[in-house]
Amino acid sequence: MSLLSRSKGPDAARQGQAIAVESIVKKYGDFEAVKGVSFDVKDGEIFGLLGPNGAGKSTLIRMMTTLIPITSGKAFIAGYDVSRDPDAARRTMGVIPQAMTSDIDLTVEENMRIYAKLYGVPGAERERSINELLEAVDLVKWRGAQVKTLSGGMRRRAEIARGLVHNPRIFFLDEPTTGLDPVSRVNVWEMLNTLKGRRNLTILITTHYMDEADRLCDRINGAGGAGEERRGGDQDAQCAEHFARRCLRPLHGTPASRRAGQGLRLRHAGPSGVAAMKVAAMKGRP
Ligand SMILES: Nc1ncnc2c1ncn2[C@@H]1O[C@H](COP(=O)(O)OP(=O)(O)OP(=O)(O)O)[C@@H](O)[C@H]1O
Ligand SMILES: [Mg+2]
Repeated sequence: MSLLSRSKGPDAARQGQAIAVESIVKKYGDFEAVKGVSFDVKDGEIFGLLGPNGAGKSTLIRMMTTLIPITSGKAFIAGYDVSRDPDAARRTMGVIPQAMTSDIDLTVEENMRIYAKLYGVPGAERERSINELLEAVDLVKWRGAQVKTLSGGMRRRAEIARGLVHNPRIFFLDEPTTGLDPVSRVNVWEMLNTLKGRRNLTILITTHYMDEADRLCDRINGAGGAGEERRGGDQDAQCAEHFARRCLRPLHGTPASRRAGQGLRLRHAGPSGVAAMKVAAMKGRP
């Protein structure tokens, strides 16, 4: 008997939607870590979630990727309801968590092979995929190196390759470039763009770097009103600038009571502009 549950099938109404999140909430006791977030991501898009430390980005990703239960609301990945059909949803996704998770005593290639085996990728396909991905992330020469000997940027690239070894349709990356130097960050962006083109991926990426969202994303879930979302390409810079102007500056210095009225979690407010960005990023419905 299979250990995997029998799939109930994707929701036909969600065709063309890689990700759909509806009023999703995560509570820890009385504390609401994620407060009723809604958005959807179409097949083939790169979608950025912006938010400062503590905004709830990782919590949201953990719910979408079946790692923690959803308190209320729904998440559909490739049409599968993650609460009702978690195994089917998992098969469609690759996940790069915020913390690096590769086994540092194993080589780059061994890390990838273990993942491929865990996902049941057949032998010939496994080797083809590993070779293609090592080339895409520019680590062919380092395939036999233990992960602990790699720089931070190289290790991130190795993790990106590992996360794609089972050929997922939807790729979740939680702050993949935090802590990297500017050159390594650009390398990671370029690799993600290349991989997206080659593999027809949908990508959801969280970041607190405005320029990262600006450069990489087709859409940025940036703020509460429809006007805060712009579609990408040459409008990306405009989108980021618009976001900063509309969402950060006006709220900078507004009284706490007003911010609270707008649903800010003051516990994590910090500088008011940052708090505004948190709400903007996590409360908005495109
Ligand atoms: N297991 C938990 N129990 C209680 N509170 C939690 C738990 N996990 C997260 N939180 C709280 O939920 C909030 C959101 O945390 P989360 O890690 O999702 O934020 P984040 O946007 O990913 O931040 P960062 O940019 O620092 O990674 C934080 O206030 C955090 O303390
Ligand atoms: Mg996080």
